[in-house]
Amino acid sequence: MDPQHVPIGIHDSGRLILNVPAMPALRVSLAHSGENAIVVSGEHPLGVDMETMKPRTDRLLEYITHPDERPHLMHLAPTMHEQLHAVWTIKEAVLKGSGTGLRTSPKQLLIDTTPATEGGGGDGDFDICGWRHVRVVGPGQNTWDVVFTFREDIAVAMAWQAPR
Ligand SMILES: CC(C)(COP(=O)(O)OP(=O)(O)OC[C@H]1O[C@@H](n2cnc3c(N)ncnc32)[C@H](O)[C@@H]1OP(=O)(O)O)[C@@H](O)C(=O)NCCC(=O)NCCS
Repeated sequence: MDPQHVPIGIHDSGRLILNVPAMPALRVSLAHSGENAIVVSGEHPLGVDMETMKPRTDRLLEYITHPDERPHLMHLAPTMHEQLHAVWTIKEAVLKGSGTGLRTSPKQLLIDTTPATEGGGGDGDFDICGWRHVRVVGPGQNTWDVVFTFREDIAVAMAWQAPR
């Protein structure tokens, strides 16, 4: 099918739906911020988020993190400013992948920053073209893989759930 002719619908939740009969599992996720946009597509649950990095209140970090996560955020990025935008985009990408968006509290997701070499889900050595990898555990022990990066003043994260 010509990509220009793929029928795109919108689910009641707001997420996009593709209708490609030959690829019924095909999914898509979209994020936009200012003049930038990113679209990801694949045959597993997936989500993408992009945020312009600008000063935010500390209350946002409290709103999006579980208290158990806060002591480990330095493993995501060196500064609190970057940590906040990393957490935000990582969790929003997962919530968009799950289809609930912010109807589910970001606090219900836990980012595992423990290196894989220590039995955790994160992989501090995984760095391809500046993308870092973590695992996120959601309600019902649902596990997501997420890669995230910072490009100039933009934070981007892509989440997917592959069969294990
Ligand atoms: C989905 C949501 C997280 C997007 O947040 P955002 O940072 O403003 O916008 P993003 O650029 O990241 O993503 C926007 C795209 O996400 C997609 N989207 C919308 N709702 C979605 C959902 N429930 N699941 C997955 N994707 C969704 C749409 O394609 C949307 O594109 P559009 O704005 O052109 O329609 C947020 O709008 C949300 O949670 N919505 C559902 C609940 C709600 O409406 N809450 C009120 C606000 S708290």
